Amino acid sequence: MSAEALLERELERFERENPRSHELANEARGSLLSGVPMPWMIRWPGGFPVFAAEAHGARFRDVDGHEYVDFCLGDTAAMTGHSPEPTVRAVSEQVAKGITTMLPSEDALWVGRELTRRFGLARWQFALTATDANRFAIRLARELTKRPKILVFNWCYHGSVDETFVGLKDGRVVSREGNVGPPVPLAETTRVVEWNDAEALERELAHGDVACVLAEPALTNIGIVLPERGFHDRLRGATRGAETLLVIDETHTLCAGPGGYTAAHGLEPDLLTVGKSIGAGIPVAAYGFSGGVAERLEALLPADEKADVGGIGGTVAANVLSLSATRATLAEVLTDEAFERMIALGERFEAGVSETIERHGLPWHVTRLGCRVEYLFRPERPRTGSEAAAGGNALLDRLIHLYALNRGILLTPFHNMALMSPDTTEADVDLHTRVFDEAASELT
Ligand SMILES: Cc1ncc(COP(=O)(O)O)c(C=O)c1O
Repeated sequence: MSAEALLERELERFERENPRSHELANEARGSLLSGVPMPWMIRWPGGFPVFAAEAHGARFRDVDGHEYVDFCLGDTAAMTGHSPEPTVRAVSEQVAKGITTMLPSEDALWVGRELTRRFGLARWQFALTATDANRFAIRLARELTKRPKILVFNWCYHGSVDETFVGLKDGRVVSREGNVGPPVPLAETTRVVEWNDAEALERELAHGDVACVLAEPALTNIGIVLPERGFHDRLRGATRGAETLLVIDETHTLCAGPGGYTAAHGLEPDLLTVGKSIGAGIPVAAYGFSGGVAERLEALLPADEKADVGGIGGTVAANVLSLSATRATLAEVLTDEAFERMIALGERFEAGVSETIERHGLPWHVTRLGCRVEYLFRPERPRTGSEAAAGGNALLDRLIHLYALNRGILLTPFHNMALMSPDTTEADVDLHTRVFDEAASELT
């Protein structure tokens, strides 16, 4: 059957089988902008989102009573599985003993030490979102280097950080399509190069005006685009050579292991940011500094009455509830052993998809980073964000998502990404393989 006809059929099924979600979606238009609590929820593939009733472990139930295996896992924020028992216990105890105090708790010290053990950076600060961690890292890099710009890779995503909503058009830096209300032309704040293009990187850094490079160690928001052999060495060498700080954003690539890609591959960033899953979805993020950067910052930053007006922080950042969640999550949920299991499931997921693609002779491929797996509708692995973007297929994305959703599987929008949690089972992975195979059979 053609993809268009299949999509039509699946849309009808979705609408028929989700009357309560449909009703709530219609009602939501009366109180929520565009009928959703957050802008990109309008993009779920069925025309309206399913409304969740309850989520536990690797599963959730919607208001129409359907049970789903969740491979989206809150786009990584619930990579721990939903509401893991140790985090729920710690947060329940803490919530009765204070939520936010503007004072440090002992949990903050424990978490700082644990993050150092995992990632190798010497000192830490906390925020509520990875977006904020990135924003603060950029400000600090500017302050340290007295340089105005940052450099990012084309098709990156680092949260809603103004400087990063950029694209490259005919070699020029432009505002990315869909960027809402940019404060200044992006070329004023940002240099952009393609991922894996070390020469372009060196050329752009040679201008001497880049405070920091902000990079995921592998792109994960435009499919997974892995670094080529030697690229990280060139990146580190070039940033050191240009006296530009290197900020590695591990928010998604934590999927590579307990200390993210940084620990798994021996990276040496000057700053590191991480958010989403470290508190099992309770809002928290961390940003860390190498010993050298920490020393320079301590010497530079105001330690007097000006310390709270520097554009870094937040009244409820580093609150005691977030840090109790982070301590429990790191100590008892996202453990070394959990990662071993999650990565093995990622391998199983990858093998299932890869065999299906091969059996049906489809011009697609699958890529994995730790416990994160993604399939893309082009035959070769992309080298750059642009190549990955060109391999996107909105129709197939939507169809596969909806096809899976109608059969009890939630994939990550708006590409085809799956994440394994400590609660995901082999049977969950095999269910996806069967459904993916069914979709492939109908398409070919
Ligand atoms: C790599 C990366 N960094 C940062 C963020 C921002 O996270 P948040 O939206 O929780 O602030 C995201 C969100 O998807 C991300 O993928």
